[in-house]
Amino acid sequence: MKRWGKILALVAVAMMVVSVAAFAAPKQWVVGFSQIGSESEWRTADTHSVQDAFAQDDSFVFMYADAQQKQENQIKALRSFIARKVDCILFTAIVETGYGPVLAEAKKAGIPVVMIDRDVAKEDRQYRLTIMGSDFIKEGEKVGNWLAKYLKDQGIDDGSTPINFAEIQGTTGSAPAIERAQGFRNIQKTHANWQINHSQDGDFTSTQGKAVMEAFLKADPKIQVLFAHNDQEALGAIQAIKEAGLQPGKDITIISIDGVKGIFQAIVNGEANCTVECNPLLGPQAVQAVRDLRDGKKLPGRIWTIESIFDASNAAAALPSRQY
Ligand code: AHR
Repeated sequence: MKRWGKILALVAVAMMVVSVAAFAAPKQWVVGFSQIGSESEWRTADTHSVQDAFAQDDSFVFMYADAQQKQENQIKALRSFIARKVDCILFTAIVETGYGPVLAEAKKAGIPVVMIDRDVAKEDRQYRLTIMGSDFIKEGEKVGNWLAKYLKDQGIDDGSTPINFAEIQGTTGSAPAIERAQGFRNIQKTHANWQINHSQDGDFTSTQGKAVMEAFLKADPKIQVLFAHNDQEALGAIQAIKEAGLQPGKDITIISIDGVKGIFQAIVNGEANCTVECNPLLGPQAVQAVRDLRDGKKLPGRIWTIESIFDASNAAAALPSRQY
């Protein structure tokens, strides 16, 4: 009898220890983030924003995987998150297609996938929970609308004389490259005289942006307008334009997307004309979404970011407070 009493007392103490421990230290949520790489200042700002936001909340264990621009690295990282049975996956897709099977595996394992910035193709969106980030089609339309007003106000576009456009696209097959091109064309087709005579992939980097612009100018020194899918490409193109003996921002109107400090400085210097903001500071929204998920709340199917347009009228005032 005495022995049973002792055993029961020990069990009771053990149960108390377990429940106190459970109360004192709730299970940390493990979150895996598969990022595409570091091709631009925008991407670096995005990575830091997400890492910093999770570092500030010790109820999360945060795992980061840099795919270095290779889809196979990304698929490997996603599989290792699934094998590790993480509680949530954050994922930015390099290109839209090719992730269906691995995302289906995550869904089968019951792991919610939250896309950050770049989405996957329509047919694979059934496997992910939501996406947060920018509206890339709208960005392309903003580019077209800003140009329509600017070119008219400057007397460059009389509505009928052909305007010679060049476009440096983002990484082929990526959501922003596809959708920015589409958005821009939605506006271009309402201007019969806008001719996109040159269009090529600049891979979202300044090195490629410069190389592509050099090739464009060799073939055609009379380009009037450049639309670069990101600021990084525009910054490279500005170098190429200068080296060709032309004045960027004057001989060639330059518009791009992102809003990095370098392009703000170029606008202030008169070497670029406009940037359509694409906000990379997604960390706080990402943490909030994962917290909501953990609390059992339903996430909206799309989480938008708020963005502006900057040109010679407001870039100088905004430059000192830019965070990226
Ligand atoms: O996916 C967002 C785009 O990717 C940004 O415009 C660009 O700078 C980045 O590389």
